[in-house]
Amino acid sequence: MIRITRQDGVQILRLDRPDKKNALTGAMYTDLAEALERGNTDPDIRCSLICGQPEVFTAGNDIGDFLQYAGKSGMTETPVVRFLRALVRNEKPLVASIDGIAIGVGTTLLMHCDMVFASPRALIRSPFVDLGLVPEAGSSLLGPQLLGHARAFELLCLGNAFSAEKALRAGLVNEVVEGDVDAAALACAREIAAKPPEAMALSRKLLRGDTEALFERVEEEIRIFASRLSAPETIAAFQAFMSKKKA
Ligand code: COA
Repeated sequence: MIRITRQDGVQILRLDRPDKKNALTGAMYTDLAEALERGNTDPDIRCSLICGQPEVFTAGNDIGDFLQYAGKSGMTETPVVRFLRALVRNEKPLVASIDGIAIGVGTTLLMHCDMVFASPRALIRSPFVDLGLVPEAGSSLLGPQLLGHARAFELLCLGNAFSAEKALRAGLVNEVVEGDVDAAALACAREIAAKPPEAMALSRKLLRGDTEALFERVEEEIRIFASRLSAPETIAAFQAFMSKKKA
């Protein structure tokens, strides 16, 4: 589930499914999407903060859910797709706090954040290709822009894990926090929320520039990703994970 609270103009979105390493289900994506959409229309929400649990931000999409989509033509109007669109359309500053593993969409959503805080034990990894998949959430466009092609390839195609320090050097993380990373991220989110909201919104929009190309890339990735969910090598990778779990 997603636990949603508010503090001083900050909407706090806490991923809370620790028994499954915060793997994201349809219901969780829906809650996240609704929260971001709400942020666009509610003037009392000045900033959103997304955070996880000690040692785990998220293990990415629920792999059991992925298997449900295999063999079906449409993944185009699912909760995950709504969430990906909401990330691109999000108009309020977004802060992330990472205190452990951040896998798959847990990595790529960071590319939509304005500030990312990580603890020293954070580990950022995107095993898309190993699972027979392709990068999503616009990361095939944002990754090279943010990190440069070589590092984006290493993260998104090779699937190498980036430590907090490496992610900091790569420009994916703003700060590595010894101690309470959630508190540091919340302090930053509150600082953002306390600033003049119109100037903040205008400034952020200028920095992000035109998001149409990003939106189109997200849609293109969704089409390819959806078709890959039925690829034999993909299904084999999912089944290997699920059977390892049962073994
Ligand atoms: N989808 C569904 N369930 C998941 C999951 C995921 N993405 N990640 C973890 N889980 C579940 C495990 O199946 C396990 O469930 P169980 O207790 O019912 O057996 C539970 O969460 C704990 O995971 P486990 O693998 O035992 O913990 P670990 O500490 O050994 O490893 C991870 C943690 C995150 C490294 C490992 O679970 C993993 O690799 N998960 C898959 C990540 C992934 O590929 N995500 C998709 C990206 S596109």
